[in-house]
Amino acid sequence: MIKQSETSIVTIDRFIIEQEAKFPEATGELSGILYDLAVAAKMITSKVRRAGLIDILGGAGSSNVQGEHQQKLDVIANEIITKAMDHGGRLCAMASEEETGIIPIPREFKCGKYVLLFDPLDGSSNIDVNVPVGTIFSVMKRVSEGEGPGEMSDMLQPGLRQVAAGYVIYGSSTMMVYTTGHGAHGFTLDPSIGEFLLSHPNIRTPETGTYLSVNDAYEQHWSEPVRALMRRYRGLDLQREAMNVRYVGSLVADFHRNLLGGGIFVYPANKKSPQGKLRLLYECNPMAFICEQAGGAAIDGRHRLLEVVPTELHQRSPLFIGSKKDVEIAAKLLSSEH
Ligand code: AHG
Ligand code: MN
Ligand code: MN
Repeated sequence: MIKQSETSIVTIDRFIIEQEAKFPEATGELSGILYDLAVAAKMITSKVRRAGLIDILGGAGSSNVQGEHQQKLDVIANEIITKAMDHGGRLCAMASEEETGIIPIPREFKCGKYVLLFDPLDGSSNIDVNVPVGTIFSVMKRVSEGEGPGEMSDMLQPGLRQVAAGYVIYGSSTMMVYTTGHGAHGFTLDPSIGEFLLSHPNIRTPETGTYLSVNDAYEQHWSEPVRALMRRYRGLDLQREAMNVRYVGSLVADFHRNLLGGGIFVYPANKKSPQGKLRLLYECNPMAFICEQAGGAAIDGRHRLLEVVPTELHQRSPLFIGSKKDVEIAAKLLSSEH
């Protein structure tokens, strides 16, 4: 008998159901979270696709025809995700890069056993210049007792506890890439039918890559080992072939290119930002989970990222992520940093 997934078109819904069927203990709740996120991604896509028209149709700070205040896209994306996810009965709390504290589930809805952490619009400063942006998400099982609202302890878990993570890239196409710990899979949105279709099953990232993504305007603030690492990647110490530098300034876009093409994304600590810039829970951990599932690696300079135990919701972390061999070089050269 031919399995459905062997026929040519696999929608994200079908893929999620088929994956779930492989695990008899699955309750379908995680699948529900992933469906809802895919719906939120489509809604954000429609907003992002109209972003260039904001000057014509009314932008932030102005009022639209109904006299309603126009919001910035990262605030809109934050609201879309919160509203798409709060009533399904599967989450007991959420946390977003855009909000200071835990986002509670409204009292009228049931609390579930998962928490969702997200960066609603990553690279949002790129929106005004029509450069790709994204959404990043992470799902963990609650550790607090009972069936009431989620707590801080549910959020502050190491990345190894993620049960799902993913990102959406609003690029020349919209794509969603996610993992539940059984490979990383990519789906491209077919705008004519409004469905995400499986386009990149079981993504494998090259062991060693050619792309280096780093903002080297911070070079003056880097430590000496970080400078030596960059000289290595650029081939200046003659120990390695020079990589090609590509830096968009949207983590999702830079990471996605390197995941498919091979390479490393680097955002080190520097004297001005001693913990780096990127957020451990909303940006680094989900990307690290996907990267490892694709055969790559991610460290904070010293430790495997997924093992870091967070102490704060908005904690920042240095990030070195991508092809395994290139991350190994970072681990080696940075071991003299501390
Ligand atoms: P966000 O828009 O969610 O605040 O994230 C921006 C992040 C990340 O996407 C990108 O890699 C990084 O900031 C760029 O920072 P620099 O401008 O310091 O290079
Ligand atoms: Mn971001
Ligand atoms: Mn953001």
